[in-house]
Amino acid sequence: MHQIAILSPKGGTGRTTITANLGRLLAERSRVLLVDCDPQNALGLLFGMTVGEPAGLSTPELQHQALAATLRSIKADVPFIPFGHPPLASLAAVETQARLDATWLEKRLKELAPQGFDHAVLDTTAARGVWQSQALGLATVIIVVLEACALSYATLPEVDALVAEAAKRPGFKGVIYVLNRVDGRRALSRDVRSAMSQAAGADYLDIALVDDEHVREASALRTTCVQHAPHSQFSAAMRMLAARVLELTR
Ligand SMILES: Nc1ncnc2c1ncn2[C@@H]1O[C@H](COP(=O)(O)OP(=O)(O)O)[C@@H](O)[C@H]1O
Ligand SMILES: [Mg+2]
Repeated sequence: MHQIAILSPKGGTGRTTITANLGRLLAERSRVLLVDCDPQNALGLLFGMTVGEPAGLSTPELQHQALAATLRSIKADVPFIPFGHPPLASLAAVETQARLDATWLEKRLKELAPQGFDHAVLDTTAARGVWQSQALGLATVIIVVLEACALSYATLPEVDALVAEAAKRPGFKGVIYVLNRVDGRRALSRDVRSAMSQAAGADYLDIALVDDEHVREASALRTTCVQHAPHSQFSAAMRMLAARVLELTR
């Protein structure tokens, strides 16, 4: 099983959007599991989950059979594990466990999805913390999501440090850099994009996703853009991203 962590130290760059769309595309070719490792619980909303779903990754009572029953009842076509909404005291307890045990997520995924998968795509938090570390600690591929803006540019040193740490592990396959919400008509967008590519070589321009109205429409309809608007520019670039992931994890 390959674990793909979606990383961006800046919030709102499109991690959840990319996780959901990538998951849906990979599911056409392999057995995929999507995992929400972010207490914001946004991922499931693009797959028909009810708002405020209490059970999830972070609620130890949830076990494999109950998860399978929930996914069946909402007719989720791609299996996913919501983060869950535990009471604050229980969340703190689970976070302490995860902080003390670097393999917490790995064990929890085995428990919840004992049948295994080809690819697990892990949505992560922007902030450093235990959930980001658990996801990065398990990742065999990291997708870094950047925006063509100065704030995102300023996170590059942190990104480099996190990626360098993960890349030391045996079995690590590589990093893909995605620039999201590119607007070729805006001079600032173009400038930041070229500064980013100069900062760390052409790596930073692996895939560019345009700012596309279809993405917002899809999320209002609580689905993914690749399903809602398969012929959009965003969906075409997402297919390139999925192909890169399949190439790296062949
Ligand atoms: N390429 C894009 N074009 C248009 N809207 C986008 C694009 N990528 C993300 N968005 C929108 O931006 C907002 C933030 O995206 P989200 O995936 O939730 O970010 P994150 O998970 O990093 O916080 C959402 O409303 C999403 O629909
Ligand atoms: Mg998110």
